[in-house]
Amino acid sequence: MCGIVGYIGDGNGARRIIIDGLKRLEYRGYDSAGIALAADGRLAVEKSVGRIANLEALLASSPIDSHAGIGHTRWATHGAPSRENAHPHTNGDGSIAIVHNGIIENYAELKEMLIAKHGVSFRSETDSEVAAHLIGLFYEGDLFAAVNRAARELRGAYSICAMAAAEPDRIVAIRKDAPLIAGLGENCNFLASDIPALLKYARTIYLIENNETVLITRNEISIFNERAERVKRDVFHVTWDADAAEKGGYDHFMRKEIFEQPAGVAETLNRRLDENGGIRLDGISLTKRDLERIERIYIVACGTASHAGLAGKFAIERFARIPTEVDIASEFRYREPYINDRTLFICISQSGETLDTLAALREAKSRGARVLSVVNVVGSSVARESDDVFYTWAGPEIAVASTKAFTTQLICMYLLALYMGRTLGTLPDGEYERVLSELRQMPDRLSALLEDEPKLREIAKKIYKNERVFFIGRGNDVGVALEGSLKLKEISYIHSFAIAAGELKHGTIALIEQDSLVIALATQDRLFEKLLSNIEEVKARGARVIGLAKAGNREIEKQSDEVIYIPACADEVTPILAVVPLQLLAYHVAKLRGCDIDKPKNLAKAVTVE
Ligand code: M6R
Repeated sequence: MCGIVGYIGDGNGARRIIIDGLKRLEYRGYDSAGIALAADGRLAVEKSVGRIANLEALLASSPIDSHAGIGHTRWATHGAPSRENAHPHTNGDGSIAIVHNGIIENYAELKEMLIAKHGVSFRSETDSEVAAHLIGLFYEGDLFAAVNRAARELRGAYSICAMAAAEPDRIVAIRKDAPLIAGLGENCNFLASDIPALLKYARTIYLIENNETVLITRNEISIFNERAERVKRDVFHVTWDADAAEKGGYDHFMRKEIFEQPAGVAETLNRRLDENGGIRLDGISLTKRDLERIERIYIVACGTASHAGLAGKFAIERFARIPTEVDIASEFRYREPYINDRTLFICISQSGETLDTLAALREAKSRGARVLSVVNVVGSSVARESDDVFYTWAGPEIAVASTKAFTTQLICMYLLALYMGRTLGTLPDGEYERVLSELRQMPDRLSALLEDEPKLREIAKKIYKNERVFFIGRGNDVGVALEGSLKLKEISYIHSFAIAAGELKHGTIALIEQDSLVIALATQDRLFEKLLSNIEEVKARGARVIGLAKAGNREIEKQSDEVIYIPACADEVTPILAVVPLQLLAYHVAKLRGCDIDKPKNLAKAVTVE
């Protein structure tokens, strides 16, 4: 949540570069924005409520520019979105400015102390403002020292970027549990929450670790540990094409990312298949002995990633016969889970920065579990703190609604489960080959499926005015129903609800009435007839039904008002295909409702607060 950018270079131009960077971080938060520029011995601060475009419009009439500055796009935690609460925040005389991402947990006591002991007057309701005053308090002409000193007082998660009016040629940033990178440009350097912010200008970056401080000048990036000793860090070369973080002709990132799924899935597969088509887990050490020692697997994640975990559980239990539980990260660590050194903890995260997931990972690790993560963002916190990392190769996912991360996470989970089953000898060779061959066909099947977009647009036209939608499914379809429902609600604000179809009659069916809309997923051959009975149950109460089934299973047409087909495939791997029409349906419904698809209200891409 929140995006921060720092820039220092030659001549003027900081304003444009920072605004440009903030626009690329808008997915992290977008309720207000602001900038501080070093100008004529002072810090010129401008802020506005709403999107970066509002800030840009405000700045259009200002002549101020600079060689250095910091900027922020906010996702409100403490205090409503307002000009006062927008960052940068400054100390009393405006000589120090900061931007902050994260939460300062002890801000209330610090605020009290600053008011009582130092007579500080606060201008905002934010937790962040205490950092500006603290740095100001400790400032004796050395911003680096003041930031480090102030950080000793802070508890919580933060990345803070600070400037001092008296030191216009340096920016200092510090990181604890919130992402921060530094980018090496030509005669300029950058700080940012994430790579897209600086991709246009820098492809060589340093990943800043927890409790490190970075000092950037025009010519140098210096990283220091907690003891203020210089740290040597290898650079990380960004290999994505700059276009990967652009809309490239699509109306929305979400639609672009839906259409990137065949390529993302192909890449994720290719990275793990050897020349003979077998699975290779280079860099992940899971020997037969390791696997035999595992008593239990926990798959822990949030939101969409946890839905990928459900498919992972099905696959691991079926192929490798290891008891597997899926847990949402925000609950996991508070329920005293049974973990020991024979536990394999798999966490799934697109961003690798989700605080709940990270906290669950740390909890599992501290109790002796081995941690394997499935992550999209290379070098993210989850990746760095895991024993093994299985990267998804989805490329940057910018839209808040996760799409291509989900399908590539599924691929990773299937490959892992197949590998485990084969290594343990619980999966016969023929079965292994059969499922692997299904996976290899997925890029082509996904491409074929995406050609159905016009049909989904037509269905969207018929349903977009509904204010309530139920998703039902059985077996492998339950996780996809949850994901389809999440996609719809988060971008269209329709009240949608997903439930295992067999559970309907235990309560929820009470909500079904004339014209209730039910999306019934019936992709599981083994459960097809049972699902048809569940459709009958809702039809009998007047529901309108959109069925989703494999091509060829036309029986469903008799009970459904509309049917969406996915290419025929094995039951085990249907989630990879079944989710795609639901993503497209959600997209077109949201578009028809005039919603801001890439930036839904109240949400942010990476949830770095608890
Ligand atoms: O970055 P992560 O995968 O850890 O994010 C977890 C969830 O916040 C995320 O999947 C969220 O549910 C999606 N944006 C929903 O589309």
